[in-house]
Amino acid sequence: MSNFYVTTPIYYVNDAPHIGHAYTTLLADVLARYHRLMDEATFFLTGTDEHGQKVHDAALKAGISPQQHADRTVLRFIELWKRLEVSNDGFIRTTEETHRRVVSEILRDLWERGEIYKGEYSGWYSVREERFYTEKDLVDGMSPEGTPVERVVEENYFFRMSRYQQWLIDYIDEHPEFIQPEFRRNETLGALKQPIRDLCISRPKSRMSWGIELPFDNNYVCYVWFDALVNYISGIGFRGDGEDFDRWWPASYHLIGKDILTTHTIYWPTMLQAIGLPQPRTIFAHGWWLTGEAKMSKSVGNVVDPMAMADRYGVDALRYHLLADMTLGNDASFTEEKFIRRYNADLANDLGNLASRVAKMVERSFDGVLPAPADTGADEQALEKHATAAATEMIDHVLSMSLDRGIARVLETVRETNRYFDRAAPWTLAKKGDLERLGTVLYTAAESLRVVSGLLFPVIPQKMGELRRTLGLPEEKIEPHFSELSKWGGLTPGSRLAPLSGLFPRIKKAKPAREPAAPSTETAPTEVELCEIGDVEKLGLTTAVVLDARPVEDADRLLRLEIDLGTEKRQIVAGIAKQYSPDQLVGRTIVVVANLQPAEIRGVRSNGMLLAAKKGKKLRLLTVDGETPGGWRIS
Ligand code: ME8
Ligand code: MG
Repeated sequence: MSNFYVTTPIYYVNDAPHIGHAYTTLLADVLARYHRLMDEATFFLTGTDEHGQKVHDAALKAGISPQQHADRTVLRFIELWKRLEVSNDGFIRTTEETHRRVVSEILRDLWERGEIYKGEYSGWYSVREERFYTEKDLVDGMSPEGTPVERVVEENYFFRMSRYQQWLIDYIDEHPEFIQPEFRRNETLGALKQPIRDLCISRPKSRMSWGIELPFDNNYVCYVWFDALVNYISGIGFRGDGEDFDRWWPASYHLIGKDILTTHTIYWPTMLQAIGLPQPRTIFAHGWWLTGEAKMSKSVGNVVDPMAMADRYGVDALRYHLLADMTLGNDASFTEEKFIRRYNADLANDLGNLASRVAKMVERSFDGVLPAPADTGADEQALEKHATAAATEMIDHVLSMSLDRGIARVLETVRETNRYFDRAAPWTLAKKGDLERLGTVLYTAAESLRVVSGLLFPVIPQKMGELRRTLGLPEEKIEPHFSELSKWGGLTPGSRLAPLSGLFPRIKKAKPAREPAAPSTETAPTEVELCEIGDVEKLGLTTAVVLDARPVEDADRLLRLEIDLGTEKRQIVAGIAKQYSPDQLVGRTIVVVANLQPAEIRGVRSNGMLLAAKKGKKLRLLTVDGETPGGWRIS
């Protein structure tokens, strides 16, 4: 059994947490939960960064001490993590006595071993802002904020960081997993092409006294970053009495945003090397959550409050969106529209409907008692394979930090189960009184839900806990174990299913839903703009095979189609329910506009448009001659 230790940055206690902060913490949470599910001993640390100028100034303004101020503002983080079901094992505050002691001991040790020396620091100081700028920062001889600066030369203490430059380059070269993703690793290697300077690690108290005092000179406090980075080891008992530190260090992952790459991939590794400790296995930098297309910033006033999102849509809806909609490493844009669309399509529609249909039919036909599978055939075996493979693939996705793809893969199993369920037509079986076959179908679908609920448990623990209880799993099995998810047959026939109501209620949007435009051939436009051949190409007209067709709830004109485009499967919504029934469509080859901006129609995602000929109420599908698979271009 190996150990897994994951950290988040410790956030500045002074700023209110927004969804960017929530994201890193949730990512750590989900990783920790997956590793626990794989039976790995796991430690997850988060916390707050409480020293420095900003906390000092804010406290002064509020007329309280910096410590009192931090004690108040830290609650915003503690409460948010509690609300978001964050399962951290430790929470470190840099004002805690143990942390201060560890920083102080490290400073003394480095000082005594000549890793820290006293030198001269020169820079440009803005009295009004009480902060230093380098020559490079200045704009027309003023600070970037436009205040006057003066040249200051003062004595300070320096860490001999430059000494480790070549060592660090070699280390990164020899450890490709050390900085991830790859392009961030190259960014750090690029920065290391220039000579790095020694790091100024002190601030004279005469300017700012809120920090950890240098143990060898009480006129100075420690630079806030040097203090903050140490949390990763002080938070697990470095230089403490117990054995915790040896158990957890080196860390498996330091998760960070791309904004703090330099401090984590240059300062921290060289500090550890000087201290004499091994390096963490991976420093992983993710991208930004943007508000729409813009950087989230307090001054612009476009920060998204995670607490408000959780209040409005639920904790799991927020967790799901953040984890499913960011590809690790890249930036992602946050809009409420996308949030709702994703929730309605994946959770309300695909997963929620499946769960409620299964529970309802077991209730109706078997008085809520799970039937035994009697005649499992090829269809059942195929679904079993699909679901259990999702479990093994999820591990690969967790280990390769492609959580969004792991989640998408589980949703494929959900959709596959929906197709199985529709094909087996349980409502017809119930009508015919074929309880044996019906029992098999319901058991099989419920089993698939058990695997799915276990695989999504780390992402949406509240709702999946609820679903697992509904499936009749005993309390000790609500939290899943991986070994049980890669195996079929975990549900016990004869167990009682709890009633289930509205697991994922559909989010109704304030805005009117856009209906698909009916192909209008009725009145020819009087003036047409002729198009180029390239314009036709641009539409991406393609053949597609209809795999599945189902009505859209509360919309009697609409059908939701699952189509195969050869290289990919997609969902489209079409206004043809009055003219075509689902079984007239499944298996047919149709023509679709593939390069269409995805839209949401009555809360269902539509990724493309089918073509049909229309006159009045009459409508005829466009199909192609002969047996044709999906993916042929129309030209
Ligand atoms: O930098 N998108 O703290 P901080 C995604 N105290 N992630 C975001 C984000 C966004 N828009 N905005 C912030 C500090 N984050 C130091 C860290 S560690 C020893 C000291 C996340 O409060 C992301 O993880 O400014 C980023 O690195 C972190 O919050 C910065 O938090
Ligand atoms: Mg910041």
